[in-house]
Amino acid sequence: MTNHVLGIDIGGTGIKGAPVDLTTGTLLAERFRIPTPQPATPAAVAATANEIVKHFDWKGDIGIGFPAVVKNGVVRTAGNIDQSWIGCNGKELFENEFGLPVTLVNDADAAGYAEMAFGAGKDVPGSVLIVTLGTGIGTAMFLDGKLFPNTELGHMIIREKDAELRASASARERNEWSWKKWGGNVSEYLTELHKLLWCDLFIIGGGASNKWEKMEPHVQCPTKVVPATLANLAGIVGAALAARADGPPKTTAKPPARNTPRTAAARRK
Ligand code: BGC
Repeated sequence: MTNHVLGIDIGGTGIKGAPVDLTTGTLLAERFRIPTPQPATPAAVAATANEIVKHFDWKGDIGIGFPAVVKNGVVRTAGNIDQSWIGCNGKELFENEFGLPVTLVNDADAAGYAEMAFGAGKDVPGSVLIVTLGTGIGTAMFLDGKLFPNTELGHMIIREKDAELRASASARERNEWSWKKWGGNVSEYLTELHKLLWCDLFIIGGGASNKWEKMEPHVQCPTKVVPATLANLAGIVGAALAARADGPPKTTAKPPARNTPRTAAARRK
């Protein structure tokens, strides 16, 4: 099995991809970006992503990061994407479009895989939360390097408002906040996360990680906070990684029966 996988990062404004060497976490060719079609329906996005596959004349495995909850290949939410994605089997859709095997995961989980393997989370034990501040807020939670998939902590409610509206990069742009104001909002959000999770480390990804010297003076949080180090490549590298290693965790089809005593003896107790 080759260690080269095509990573594709699907976002609200751009679809980006590049072949990735999974041993080094580096790109094997320059990243290719196409604006996300509008409306970003499943058929339109699949056709655009196929342009990336064709651009690299790709014939192998593909990993895709997608900005929503993805369980067993099925898209389950649609915060910042077209509502018609909900319930769509994205894995099958992309596989039919490309004629190639696809692994589909949440975009923040993908970025988390990359930061844990090659970036700020490399060799970090304990509980680590990657928080990506972009169009939305994505989170990826790891314990001793193992992912708890599909956390949606960007939608935590803070003072009666979705955190995404208070601390994402798009909220900053919309409201034309200074770094101080944005940093203050991010601090409030991270401190709420701290109170609930008591993580060992927060890694901040998205645009703010590139300009960390501007954000850092305004970030206050009891948990240690560091910037992501793979910048805008984490999404692509992590999507490719998701197609390998232990891959995205599988969900059990049937939930286990709860509180059911297994034996007659147990029932009598
Ligand atoms: C979505 C997440 C996603 C994040 C970043 C949020 O609106 O609910 O699933 O990871 O945006 O794209």
